[in-house]
Amino acid sequence: MKRIVALLLALSLLVSFAACSKKDQKQSEPKDKSYIYMVLVNKTNKLPVNWTELIKLKTAKNSMGEEYQVETQTLKQFEALRAELLKEGVDIELDSTYRTVEEQQDLWERFEKEYGSDYVKKYVAVPGYSEHHTGLVIDICLVKDGKVIDENDDMIAEKEIFAKIHSRLAKYGFILRYLDGKEHITGYNYEPWHLRYIGDAKVAKEIMDKGITLEEYLGEAKDVGVKIDYGKSEIYSKEQLDELIKQIKCTFASPGWFGCELRSIRYTSDEFNNKEELAKANDNDSGKKYTSIAKFLVDFHTPDKSLGAFNTDFDYKDYSFWLACDKEGNWDIIDMGY
Ligand code: DAL
Ligand code: ZN
Repeated sequence: MKRIVALLLALSLLVSFAACSKKDQKQSEPKDKSYIYMVLVNKTNKLPVNWTELIKLKTAKNSMGEEYQVETQTLKQFEALRAELLKEGVDIELDSTYRTVEEQQDLWERFEKEYGSDYVKKYVAVPGYSEHHTGLVIDICLVKDGKVIDENDDMIAEKEIFAKIHSRLAKYGFILRYLDGKEHITGYNYEPWHLRYIGDAKVAKEIMDKGITLEEYLGEAKDVGVKIDYGKSEIYSKEQLDELIKQIKCTFASPGWFGCELRSIRYTSDEFNNKEELAKANDNDSGKKYTSIAKFLVDFHTPDKSLGAFNTDFDYKDYSFWLACDKEGNWDIIDMGY
């Protein structure tokens, strides 16, 4: 706990330090800058101002000859990790590293066009809120049997290779940032490729051993374990319901929800996929046409600090989430509440 308090102090120092003028920084700059590596950037914490003055980026090439920029110490540790894995026959390569806010904007627009707005929210951070702006993140791709594996679904399928990679991260000060099952805390789907350097190998080991997120380690979020009830559906498979459940979970890490403890998600029943509900869903300003409906009930507890729309420190039970699917198979959360 003491260490968490010290860390939070260092991080608040980081924010105020980053907000100082350049002249002030020189006067008050602490010698040990290791706290920089613990910076929290997520859906509700923007990149600290003047961040790029705090870090030094270095250019590196992957074995395909592509150039990337990475924070100096992060790169050094990544190269050591890569060398160890290469000895074991696992080839990891730089695929996406430091990104400016403008580059993140381009990425967001490209993904939105290609995969739709719900997909983009689960995989791409809003510009200004991406960990990639820190320079402390490396998205890797794999080279297997001479072929590059860099598509999200193809990488997620490489479970054995990623288990090897993940087991060695902490030794070099890296953690896995977007864990499977913790979407309600990180706000993102599982990303086995997104490696985050946090500096201290001991802390990295503790985080990886416990299987927790950086938010949980820093005391910014608590995971009480989410109970899932798939109910009985004749129209949706468990895999389809899982995708919708992830979408609901991701909502809990977004502004206005962050700090809520998500306790359970239950699929109600197929009876809500009816003409009347579809007509209501299709009566929207965007002109979007939906073809099916799914209703879930959710239990959660709000934090003791105000979130605006909710009562503080309060148990919400049977709170509805309505989702609708268009012809292309894209699901939107179309309504929530009582
Ligand atoms: N893929 C991560 C969430 C990002 O865009 O920063
Ligand atoms: Zn990433």
